[in-house]
Amino acid sequence: MKAKKRLSNPNKGLNGELQVPGDKSISHRSIMFGSVAEGKTVIHNFLMGEDCLSTISCFRKLGVEITVTQDEVIVYGNGWDHLKEPVDILDVGNSGTTTRLIMGILAGRPFHSVLIGDSSIAKRPMKRVTEPLKKFGTVIDGRSEGNFTPLSIRGGNLKGIHYSLPVASAQVKSALILAGLQADGVTEIVEPQQTRNHTEKMILEFGGKIEKHGDTIKVQGGQVLKGTEIYVPGDISSAAFFMVAAAIVPHSKVLLKNVGLNETRIGIVEVMKKMGASIEIVEHSKAGEPIGDILVQSSELTGIEIGGDLIPSLIDEIPVIALLATQAKGKTVIRDAEELKVKETNRIDAVVKELGKLGANIQGTEDGMVIEGKTPLHGGEVHSWGDHRIGMTLAVASLLTESDVYLEDAEAVKISYPDFFEHINQLLEHE
Ligand code: S3P
Repeated sequence: MKAKKRLSNPNKGLNGELQVPGDKSISHRSIMFGSVAEGKTVIHNFLMGEDCLSTISCFRKLGVEITVTQDEVIVYGNGWDHLKEPVDILDVGNSGTTTRLIMGILAGRPFHSVLIGDSSIAKRPMKRVTEPLKKFGTVIDGRSEGNFTPLSIRGGNLKGIHYSLPVASAQVKSALILAGLQADGVTEIVEPQQTRNHTEKMILEFGGKIEKHGDTIKVQGGQVLKGTEIYVPGDISSAAFFMVAAAIVPHSKVLLKNVGLNETRIGIVEVMKKMGASIEIVEHSKAGEPIGDILVQSSELTGIEIGGDLIPSLIDEIPVIALLATQAKGKTVIRDAEELKVKETNRIDAVVKELGKLGANIQGTEDGMVIEGKTPLHGGEVHSWGDHRIGMTLAVASLLTESDVYLEDAEAVKISYPDFFEHINQLLEHE
């Protein structure tokens, strides 16, 4: 059993400035595009979380030279055709993004590869990617008719497809775009809802072409990409934990610097504003991935309804939004979020059970949850379920509890935020 981390309520606000680590989605994509592009790609502010390190390790096994220093990651790409058949199994660890996106690349490569991950990955649905990839002409299989890892792929000779995504998923969309870039002819992908568009933006950075008409994305096959320089903005999904902490812990004022403000990711800002949070945004760069600073101060909050097209823009923030709702007056309803059940854990069950242990009044529903606030939280023994975002949500909750919280498997935070606990302490120590 993993050690429990004792978290004591510091009884003070969080104050000062913070630079949250680089965006996880953009970090993964920068390694992948760098690996298939021609020439050197230099990546600044890369997220050294365990998930992104899994991506680096997979591409090294595919023969790509990648150097990592304190300041930058350099990927020495030699084009699509220089990826090599891996001698070893590709281990994706806990990373769904690595698993799904790499399949899109491997689908077009004329060799055999095998993907495996941890016990969480083994439960996550992959048919949503393997089925459409088969339509391109690739040979792909896995446990339960291609739905689960281990997965094996023998790629090559793809033909562009027209495909309507049954679920709103940036990972599936991106895998199909990556296959489409290598296919003969044009690939068209129809999205049921707008999801994060980092792949589309990054293709342009690497000198490629992609079009969007309404909800249809169009990509021409046979594209050659060119190595480039990427600055990874701070991850709004990591910033979210401090946005919520500053909003609910009295006497807090936190400035989060250089956070990515991509329009497909900022649902949490809209939700917090609607709930009455004091939140100011100063955008300082609009080109490519927009970047800015977010200032949050504690304030009175009111419950709201969250659903529909907003969900994909805040899907990863729902656990911490649930915590926020426990401190808002009245009822908060989260709906249309059944995708939460197939994340690193079933996040509806995990949030309801673990925040419930601390005294939250929260009920799970088929597609979300209902939270009644405002509830005082008490201490207790809780578990991250090995899920980074559940672990960080519970750690933020402990800033409000009347007695100590013991968090089992707190190490999970290293998936996306290795310095998370140090950053909390930094904001508590600020005078
Ligand atoms: C991601 C897409 C989302 C998100 C995940 C990262 C990405 O998943 O939850 O954390 O980088 O494309 P889905 O595509 O499954 O919605």
